[in-house]
Amino acid sequence: MRGVTPKPGPIERGGVARSFDMHARTYDKLVGANPGYHEHLRLTTKRMGLPDRGAGLRLLDVGCGTGASTAALLDAAPDAEITAVDASHEMLAQATRKTWPRTVRFVHGNAENLAMSGIVGPFDGILAAYLLRNLVHRDAALRQFHRLLRPGAPLAIHEYSVRDSLRSRLVWTTVCWGVIIPMARVRAGSTDLYRYLWRSALQFDGITALGKRLTSAGFEDIRVQTVPGWQQHIVHTFLGRRPADPMAAEPGAAEEAADPEAPTPAEGIDLTDPSTDRPPRPRPAPDPPLPTPRPEEGRVGFVHRMYPITPPPRG
Ligand SMILES: C[S@@+](CC[C@H](N)C(=O)[O-])C[C@H]1O[C@@H](n2cnc3c(N)ncnc32)[C@H](O)[C@@H]1O
Repeated sequence: MRGVTPKPGPIERGGVARSFDMHARTYDKLVGANPGYHEHLRLTTKRMGLPDRGAGLRLLDVGCGTGASTAALLDAAPDAEITAVDASHEMLAQATRKTWPRTVRFVHGNAENLAMSGIVGPFDGILAAYLLRNLVHRDAALRQFHRLLRPGAPLAIHEYSVRDSLRSRLVWTTVCWGVIIPMARVRAGSTDLYRYLWRSALQFDGITALGKRLTSAGFEDIRVQTVPGWQQHIVHTFLGRRPADPMAAEPGAAEEAADPEAPTPAEGIDLTDPSTDRPPRPRPAPDPPLPTPRPEEGRVGFVHRMYPITPPPRG
């Protein structure tokens, strides 16, 4: 119909990156006004326990946006090689305007099919900050992250998760409608993305469900911790790791194990060859536990919590 501007429909999971295109220029200002936003991202990347300032490591930041999470990853692992991916051209344009070391590269791509953008593993750590909630095929995406990780390497999901706690849902709704959405109206001129943010966080997995989702995708050693500030029990770090490869313990073990019933070769087996007469392989050492974070120091009112997946207090 001529003369009628169709109202934009509600933002759907899967079409989120297009909305981020429209909000990219004001995104940094809005998150900058959210106390703790950058600090919490840094807390999550610290919790990944990346060794040696990341020297020799390849890390992936999926859904990097304007680079806030990439900067947090760089902070935890300044010597690593970091690939940062996002599906929004405009968010990436904001990211690449900033100054980065040559070890950081930005790639346009869909988190649900990273191979299409030439992103191949193995990675020594993957961060997905405020991304998973926006994906259509979350389980498939997690399985893909699992495949891209080196055995033993960590995945960190930094995300809102309020479903398990009435108190968290009430605080979240109050902050969204009392602060975030009105601020978006003034600073971004539109509230659609931020109303979607409110709704999508309410609908997203509770911590128990996300823990189970990570387990189903093959991750182990799953931990969840919250952050300080008004986001306590609202924003969480979910950590999991790809199980260590038991075959990696001894070179050649994988080939042997791949074909335990192999027929005796025609020339026979030389039983005097010491290599055929080795003692049984030692069992690989168990994984070291994920680092236990230190209680945050000097922070009033923040109770450090480390739960193996159990819901926060219902309030
Ligand atoms: C809330 S922002 C978070 C950005 C950044 N990680 C941070 O912590 O500030 C979510 C980002 O995910 C991106 N995104 C959403 N769906 C995506 C997809 N399927 N593939 C890649 N990026 C996606 C959006 O374009 C947006 O930049």
